[in-house]
Amino acid sequence: MKWMCGLGLAATLIVQPVMAESPFGTHPLTQQARDAFVAQLLDKMTLDEKIGQLRLISVGPDNPKTVIREMIKKGQVGAIFNTVTRPDIRAMQDQVMQLSRLKIPLFFAYDVIHGQRTIFPITLGLASSWDLDAVNTVGRISAYEAADDGLNMTWAPMVDITRDPRWGRVSEGFGEDTYLTSQMGRTMVRAMQGKSPADRFNVMTSVKHFAAYGAVEGGRDYNTVDMSQQRLFQDYLPGYKTALDAGSGGVMVALNSLNGVPATADSWLLKDILRDKWGFKGITISDHGAIKELMKHGVASDPQDAVRIAITSGVNMSMSDEYYSKYLPGLVKSGAVSEAEIDDAVRHVLNVKYDMGLFNDPYSHLGPAGSDPRDTNAESRLHRVEARDVARKSLVLLKNRLETLPLKKSGAIAVVGPLADSQRDMMGSWSAAGVSGQSVTVLQGIRNALAGKAVVLFSKGANVTDNKGIQDFLNQYEAAVSVDRRSPQVMIDDALAVAKKADVVVAVVGESQGMAHEASSRSDITIPSSQLKLLDALKTTGKPLVIVLMNGRPLALVKEDSQADAMLETWFSGTEGGNAIADVLFGDYNPSGKLPMSFPRSVGQIPVYYNHLQTGRPYDFEHPNKYTSHYYDAANGPLYPFGYGLSYTRFTLSEVRLSAKTLPRNGSLNASVTVTNSGKRDGATVVQLYLHDQTASLSRPVEELKSFKRIFLKAGETQTVTFPIDVNALKFWNARMQYVAEPGRFDVLIGLDSARTRKGTFTLL
Ligand code: NOJ
Repeated sequence: MKWMCGLGLAATLIVQPVMAESPFGTHPLTQQARDAFVAQLLDKMTLDEKIGQLRLISVGPDNPKTVIREMIKKGQVGAIFNTVTRPDIRAMQDQVMQLSRLKIPLFFAYDVIHGQRTIFPITLGLASSWDLDAVNTVGRISAYEAADDGLNMTWAPMVDITRDPRWGRVSEGFGEDTYLTSQMGRTMVRAMQGKSPADRFNVMTSVKHFAAYGAVEGGRDYNTVDMSQQRLFQDYLPGYKTALDAGSGGVMVALNSLNGVPATADSWLLKDILRDKWGFKGITISDHGAIKELMKHGVASDPQDAVRIAITSGVNMSMSDEYYSKYLPGLVKSGAVSEAEIDDAVRHVLNVKYDMGLFNDPYSHLGPAGSDPRDTNAESRLHRVEARDVARKSLVLLKNRLETLPLKKSGAIAVVGPLADSQRDMMGSWSAAGVSGQSVTVLQGIRNALAGKAVVLFSKGANVTDNKGIQDFLNQYEAAVSVDRRSPQVMIDDALAVAKKADVVVAVVGESQGMAHEASSRSDITIPSSQLKLLDALKTTGKPLVIVLMNGRPLALVKEDSQADAMLETWFSGTEGGNAIADVLFGDYNPSGKLPMSFPRSVGQIPVYYNHLQTGRPYDFEHPNKYTSHYYDAANGPLYPFGYGLSYTRFTLSEVRLSAKTLPRNGSLNASVTVTNSGKRDGATVVQLYLHDQTASLSRPVEELKSFKRIFLKAGETQTVTFPIDVNALKFWNARMQYVAEPGRFDVLIGLDSARTRKGTFTLL
């Protein structure tokens, strides 16, 4: 981790923090010392002060700073979110230290999802890198910049498995696969928390949304989730569990209900599973306003009831409502909630504050006032080199007919499309404290790459959408989408005129970032029609057409796939996105990204995911048969499968070699393939290992990702990749909810995507 040391040298760190005098003295960061300290502190607290610790508030119109000052004075607030500069954070911590009786420090949290000041690709894009070093880079830099802004906690990573691209929040997660998500979530937690969240440039993570939020019915946000225990434990829970095993100090509770019980009211999830089974010792935090919502869910009759249910179900901290503060005192008085229950929740809050090092130094992530950056948004605070590197790794080449890409750095290039020069969209949703004005668009990136060597022509060509209702929706909370008032035809004509003058057309189309966000579910996952009309028109010019996609979810792209000579999936790739995209377009970087979600052909096929169960009547495209599981009006399977992505070079795979034909229960065997870069360029690819249980007591997935390795090969180079396999990779939750590996035959499938694999077989004894 060479770069981690490099990071310490970054210009961002102006002054080494000096340990401030703490009213609590200095205590070792051990569990024993913590428990003793917190027990003593709890003894000194009044009931109101305890309840105050359970309140997490966002500064805003509902809670102006003057009101917060009063609350802090009375010990009525435990933590703050959405305040992101050192001076603002310091002012509030000062108030605690100067005005409150017990001087219990606040902690400060924020949605640091894919970067803080430097914005990296959206999480779905990061997942496309299949590169844990890249995840580590993003985690370290995000934590560094967040901690440098004074923050102690982030609401990340989101490890909700999702198989429905209609859900706007697929953009925030690592995709459809449990193994990939778990690996990435674990890496992110370790990178952000480091050895200890108390260290100056680490933050505590809060894994979310517990549980199964990604499975909302119909992909409609906040909707119901209903699933079998087997599926829950096999596919949906491991992501959270792995993040917690990696040490995540926080858990954010999901907004949805699971099998009829809202997560905020689910003591089975929050106590039996999380605490008793998994031994989680950190803090649980409700999602925004979720306690109030228990009434809307229809499981609480009134506010008191909602509060009673939430606290007794195991929700420690309440985010962004006044319910705990308002109703817990009465509930304790009436005996409906015991003081022991309150103590338990408060203990968790104080524990994480202790783990954050706040009792040793309430200013540990702030340093002395004089060290505050003069300009919060200074260029020198950004990590552009790393952002560009990660962004390049996140790009997925979907099509490249007759080696249309890479483009030559000569002639004339028409850059067209409503997203081509949109700084805001490049940042993606949840772009934290990132400043759009600091991002590089595709147009700018292409201009930078060509630096006068070729002519670059630009035309917007279309609005993101001509649908007024959707334009208003996207601009509801910020002026995110600029609407060109020219008529659609005038815009298209302008684009055509530009295209005709060029040797090649690069059309940058897709979604605006607000279309893939919280509360941004879509019933239609095509590119909006204004842009499709633009593509149709561009196609008539006969010029080579390169489609550069920007979007936060898998889209249905059947027609675009047939129109494009080349197609590059770029997601929303962050501050350095435009430069990274240009690197790939002109061959300065050979693309290696692989899809972390299947791309369906149409919305009607959803859910489309690679690790589905076999049916009794599987469809066989080589021998089609009416009475098999398929749609008669569409081709079966995804347009682009999970794990798919092309390169400018060609990789060939040998047959699978197994070190043994049988696997003893206490042993392991090796599966190997030899990979050759048989093309002309150096490049990276991802070798993927899937397993399939041929016969079991339950129907098992046709294949499941169990390991992967990203390798780099020079042109002509060959490498053997070996994957060890042991019994743990073969286990599943059976009908009686026992976690077992059943004896029998297993297929080992190795490939460069989930659809084209080489096979070997072994027997588990
Ligand atoms: C609601 C979202 O569901 C959650 O992911 C986010 O962290 C919180 N709001 C705080 O912004």
